[in-house]
Amino acid sequence: MKEKIINDVYLALEKQIPEHEIVIEYPKERKMGDFAIPCFTYAKTLKKSPQIIAEQIKEKLNYPKIEVVGGYLNIFLDRQELTKQVLEDIFQKDYGKLDFGNQETIVIDYSAPNIAKPFSVGHLRSTVIGNALRNICVKCGYQVVGINHLGDWGTQFGKLIVAYKKWGDPEKIKQDPIQELTKLYVLFHETAEKDKTLDDEARLYFKKLEENDPECLELWRWFREESLKEFQKTYDLLGINNFESYHGEAFYNDKMQPVIDELKEKDLLTTSEEAKVVMLEDLPPALIQKKDGATLYLTRDLATAFYRKKTYDFKEALYVVGSEQQLHFKQLKAVIKKMTYDFADNMHHIPFGMILQDGKKMSTRMGKTVKLHDVLEQAI
Ligand code: ARG
Repeated sequence: MKEKIINDVYLALEKQIPEHEIVIEYPKERKMGDFAIPCFTYAKTLKKSPQIIAEQIKEKLNYPKIEVVGGYLNIFLDRQELTKQVLEDIFQKDYGKLDFGNQETIVIDYSAPNIAKPFSVGHLRSTVIGNALRNICVKCGYQVVGINHLGDWGTQFGKLIVAYKKWGDPEKIKQDPIQELTKLYVLFHETAEKDKTLDDEARLYFKKLEENDPECLELWRWFREESLKEFQKTYDLLGINNFESYHGEAFYNDKMQPVIDELKEKDLLTTSEEAKVVMLEDLPPALIQKKDGATLYLTRDLATAFYRKKTYDFKEALYVVGSEQQLHFKQLKAVIKKMTYDFADNMHHIPFGMILQDGKKMSTRMGKTVKLHDVLEQAI
């Protein structure tokens, strides 16, 4: 802009003042203009008063607004229009594009809310940090695979199925799925406080689900579908909608056994209190299978890591997950390393701090969560 203004002034003065003598200053206050041209030094050469010189230049320039104040010419730009032009230019020329990624693949695991629970503010950070990392990696020339590793499997589904069978009302669920399912979940925990058999029942139902019991599967599918519809509203508000994959934990249900078998073959599986664990150096043992044969979050993440390595042959795999899962990811990497796979070194947990409510962790179980959708709407 400065160059353009200097050139315009040079032409307006009919080239009588050399360009290098045309000085541009910034007015002390913005309301006086974006640029100021002092015309005092031209008076001697042009044999006119600075005021008149300024008036003459003004006649010949074309800017949104120009004011003559004393011997100064103050120029106002259309900042909005200029900003628009600059941004358009930046996007068009793809400023800052780098290519050191050589189109190698980076897998980014982010967002990953849990089915049948509210999309809470707790998942905001993973979602936006993950998305930012994604944009950066793309800019650096990597091939990015964004994965929404939905929490759609686990003992909580056993609890939910039990609660639904006891107290559920399909009509209410259809009307407000997450709210109703959360209510059922909370009710389950309240009741289980007094009635210990409920937890056993839930374990049984999750076991059934893992064994593909048709009734359990159908309920699970329904809860998942309704939840995804609801999550979508939050993603729409955030403008984040570019996951390459929505394979959640459930997808790995039939992919864990080969990993467990390999652990057995490699003599890494130990029985401890009837459960199967992998003993680790400097870390607590990694629990792989409970005594009733049920698998765990960690077991699913093991199967996931192998699946991703095989499917995407990633250079790096990032897990954008809260710092409270630090131990989980350390164990995950340590188990893979013990199986003698070096790609564990290319798996990185990207931790971030937890969002607290009144200094405490938010818990769906206690019915204490803040919905991300509500917060975003308030912010807007
Ligand atoms: N659903 C999990 C949670 O809300 C996060 C999953 C992160 N990804 C993973 N591969 N473990 O805590």
